[in-house]
Amino acid sequence: MSNYHIKHLEEYYQVYRKSIQNPDIFWEEIAEEHFVWRKRWNTVLEWDFSKPEIKWFKGAQLNITENCIDRHLRTRGSKTALLFEPNNPDESTQHITYNQLYKRVNQFANVLKDQGIKKGDRVCIYLPMIPELAIATLACARIGAIHSVVFAGFSATALATRINDSDCKLVITADGSYRGAKTIDLKTIVDDALKHTPCVKNVLVVKRIGSSINMQTNRDKWLQPLLDNALTECEPEIMNAEDPLFILYTSGSTGTPKGMVHTTAGYMVYTAFTFKNAFQYQENDVYWCTADIGWITGHSYIVYGPLANGATTVLYEGVPNYPDWGRFWKIIEKHKITQFYTAPTAIRALAKENLKHVEKHDLSSLKILGSVGEPINEEAWHWYDTNIGKKKCPIIDTWWQTETGGIMISPIPYATPTKPTYATLPFPGIQPVLMDENGNEIKGNQVDGRLCIKFPWPSMARTIWNNHQRYRETYFTAYKNNYFTGDGALRDEVGYYRITGRVDDVIIVSGHNLGTAPIEDAINLHPAIAESAIVGFPHDIKGNALYGYVILKETGTNRNHDNLRKEINQIITEHIGPIAKLDKIQFTSGLPKTRSGKIMRRILRKIASSEFDTLGDTSTLLNPEVVQEIITNVL
Ligand code: WTA
Repeated sequence: MSNYHIKHLEEYYQVYRKSIQNPDIFWEEIAEEHFVWRKRWNTVLEWDFSKPEIKWFKGAQLNITENCIDRHLRTRGSKTALLFEPNNPDESTQHITYNQLYKRVNQFANVLKDQGIKKGDRVCIYLPMIPELAIATLACARIGAIHSVVFAGFSATALATRINDSDCKLVITADGSYRGAKTIDLKTIVDDALKHTPCVKNVLVVKRIGSSINMQTNRDKWLQPLLDNALTECEPEIMNAEDPLFILYTSGSTGTPKGMVHTTAGYMVYTAFTFKNAFQYQENDVYWCTADIGWITGHSYIVYGPLANGATTVLYEGVPNYPDWGRFWKIIEKHKITQFYTAPTAIRALAKENLKHVEKHDLSSLKILGSVGEPINEEAWHWYDTNIGKKKCPIIDTWWQTETGGIMISPIPYATPTKPTYATLPFPGIQPVLMDENGNEIKGNQVDGRLCIKFPWPSMARTIWNNHQRYRETYFTAYKNNYFTGDGALRDEVGYYRITGRVDDVIIVSGHNLGTAPIEDAINLHPAIAESAIVGFPHDIKGNALYGYVILKETGTNRNHDNLRKEINQIITEHIGPIAKLDKIQFTSGLPKTRSGKIMRRILRKIASSEFDTLGDTSTLLNPEVVQEIITNVL
């Protein structure tokens, strides 16, 4: 893609204006450049936010793997596509070239076909960060199967819920995974989940840790022997532009997780375009995003965006502190990483450690630093800028969501002057607006409100799997004719956006979206617990941590509180996963409620954050006396 490699601010504004004034021409030009289409589109965009219905490149046909792999073979066949850095530093790095990737994806695709998987079938992928994870997603895309990657830190219950929601026929997993010095028995978790998933017919198992596991006859198969016997050519399934590419679950503020559906053509065009411009990718760069492919960041900016650009993308299996806190910096030095993309929570954890871990390593290959997943605080921003970028690397604070598919608001390196804690300006094609509580647009600068997007962009999720009504209600009803992000934001005097955080009951903990309702539901299963309310409070590494207020039943009142706290976190681990464990648990006799019985979370949030002076008027509550009790016993 030669056009729109934006290089300076005037060029940004020029491109931006064009993208708004004439979106069809703008996106058509990008789509025409370098992508391989089997059939051209009839229309660039058809949309109606009231339904909502959004169609990009209608009538076009393509296969995304032809774009991510096949078309690079002639010019980049022996270039490294995936660079795999294992958890164990003594295990050798793997360089998987585009030629090898082609063969491995095709073999895997043929194995999937042999398992009876066809276009439109759902395949659940529950794997550690090993090359097979990227290859499995691409293999699904090759044959038109819809992948649903579930982060391999989720519990058996969470996995089963996701498998059942989208009726997956096949699960791809591993015997286990490495996580620093520990191993995790993934297959055991899958076995537990599959007790409740009648839709699953087969399981393919990657051998990763060599543990002895249970293999259920007729259902479970080792992957490698099947791959060894598979042909290395598999004709790509020809997909329509709006055919689903994948489902990825994200937490909602209430109810079950939402299976966000992303479709083929728009997602490809937008992730490729944003990857190229946000990271100013050049042919010999070595790009590393530390996310897990189990999250949207991994889908869009480890797999699809980089590969669509013929890039070298690094996959790291391990954690930041194994064998020590210098591991990230060691990897940057070892592979001469040029773009490094990570999360504020990782930056804060790394910044707490001795600087000698950084200083030991030569980081001079770095050109651009990225941040994603939650607001980056000023201190972390400066630490990143000074110690990692040595004040020479632009930091791109990229705001976006599982639902948006790609980066929405972010500086363009070298073009947009950065400002700490500001995601700055919208990407070309993105039309953010701020709304007040009555649903009116707030115009002008130096204002704050709720962040909406008023015009479609190619990689937006098209629906929630099996629940289009929930999609409409969650995103398109609060602000008529706008997509509502769930975030608050402010716009400064030059039009830069700063994301201030969620305005709903989603809490971002260490960059992971957690809905309060499912955690409360899990806790309330405990026989001694009557009711609970979860809120977030500031935490210096995780960004936010979880604070639980718990009311015990009569029968639980003489139970030991520390034991109860352990049991509560145990239940959460079983039902959701360890990422949702509570940092603080306060037992209380009541929760502040409105006269209609709604829990006043705003008050609970303030108390958990020690903001006692700004509680506001509590006299209208049903039970104002409980507020004083909660303040007295706050942890
Ligand atoms: C938050 C991750 C501030 C935000 C790609 C959003 C951010 C949610 C930023 C989506 C950022 C993401 N600054 N907040 N740069 N990036 N967020 O779906 O609240 O896992 O709505 O997608 O993370 O999280 P998700």
